[in-house]
Amino acid sequence: MYLQKLSLTDYRNYSLAEITFHPGVNLLYGGNAQGKTNLLEAVELLSSGKAFRAARDAEAVRFGADHARLRGEINCGSRSREIDITIPREGKKIIRIDKSPAAAQSLAGKLPCVLFTPEHLNLIKSGPAERRKLINSILCQLRPRYSALLTQYNRTVVQKTAILRQAEERSDMLQVLEDYNRRMAEIGAELIRFRAAFVRILAKAAPRLHAEISGGEELSVAYETVSAVDDPSAESEVLKNQLYSRLCALRAAEIAARACLSGPHRDDLLITVDGREARQYASQGQCRTAAVALKLASRHIMEKELGVIPLLLLDDILSELDARRQDYVLNRIDRGQIFITGCEDEAARRLRAGRIFEISAGTVAGRRDFGRMG
Ligand SMILES: Nc1ncnc2c1ncn2[C@@H]1O[C@H](COP(=O)(O)OP(=O)(O)OP(=O)(O)O)[C@@H](O)[C@H]1O
Ligand SMILES: [Mg+2]
Repeated sequence: MYLQKLSLTDYRNYSLAEITFHPGVNLLYGGNAQGKTNLLEAVELLSSGKAFRAARDAEAVRFGADHARLRGEINCGSRSREIDITIPREGKKIIRIDKSPAAAQSLAGKLPCVLFTPEHLNLIKSGPAERRKLINSILCQLRPRYSALLTQYNRTVVQKTAILRQAEERSDMLQVLEDYNRRMAEIGAELIRFRAAFVRILAKAAPRLHAEISGGEELSVAYETVSAVDDPSAESEVLKNQLYSRLCALRAAEIAARACLSGPHRDDLLITVDGREARQYASQGQCRTAAVALKLASRHIMEKELGVIPLLLLDDILSELDARRQDYVLNRIDRGQIFITGCEDEAARRLRAGRIFEISAGTVAGRRDFGRMG
């Protein structure tokens, strides 16, 4: 499976572009602010339905245009598939898969992608939100139901927060709060079960990779959720009750804080290197190695689950790695379709055959193949 063709209309700084990609390595190079990351973002958007750099979809619409359109042609061996997304400046985006209207969740697994940016290298030292994003980005692609639950849960947190902000002045809101607590416990229980199952697999795959890159350091990964939950893999009903009791116990504190204080929206991963919490004690290099291991392990898990190799999108990542880690990444990723921005350098060209695109001011100014013809 690979992305064969991408057409963009009024997407970021691209007015009109039609690009035919290589099934192997695609190097996007050019000066700063020419549109390399924008192109990568467009590819990822076909996979997730969301622009990874935008807070709101409309930010991706080219300045002055009233809508953006992306069309991707995916080669799935014996057949092809088309994903077509229109993003209006105002209103909801429209997604079509093979010309039929589809919900964003239906994109799950259609064009699986793993994105790796320099921010991900800070995964270990950054706040829990970044680690939750890692879990969410993979689970949303593997489990459409998870993606739907996560959307519902996040919406519930936003609505409950709005209620908590008024609860002190309006006592009639308190009954509504009760309904929200039940709902959060119910959806939260399901999210926790999905996450527990995923982290169990991640905790097996990532340490192996980490030991190989670091020459024997021991990485461990564990799922940290609401303290009232003693076994995150327990039955939904058990989890639901534990979450609900915790929310009831925190009721007054939540009203005082005007915030949702407990639930999987505060989950984290506990990562240790050689037995010590990495966030506090690991060196910059150890953290980067752990981040690389977690990312590559995620791709490996997706490949096993889906039976196809996910696209790998590397935004400026190689130049951020030292020679040893660069070598490791290049050796480990030399399969499937890969997009690399930022460098036309020898490192990337050590990979098998591919195509180089020169990106200039929102256009593909040049293109040539290298290595074996693919
Ligand atoms: N909605 C938009 N409409 C038009 N242009 C936009 C829009 N959003 C971003 N841009 C512009 O796109 C340009 C290219 O951005 P991009 O991040 O893709 O550059 P890049 O080639 O990856 O650069 P760098 O090497 O610095 O990472 C930026 O100058 C930015 O102002
Ligand atoms: Mg960039």
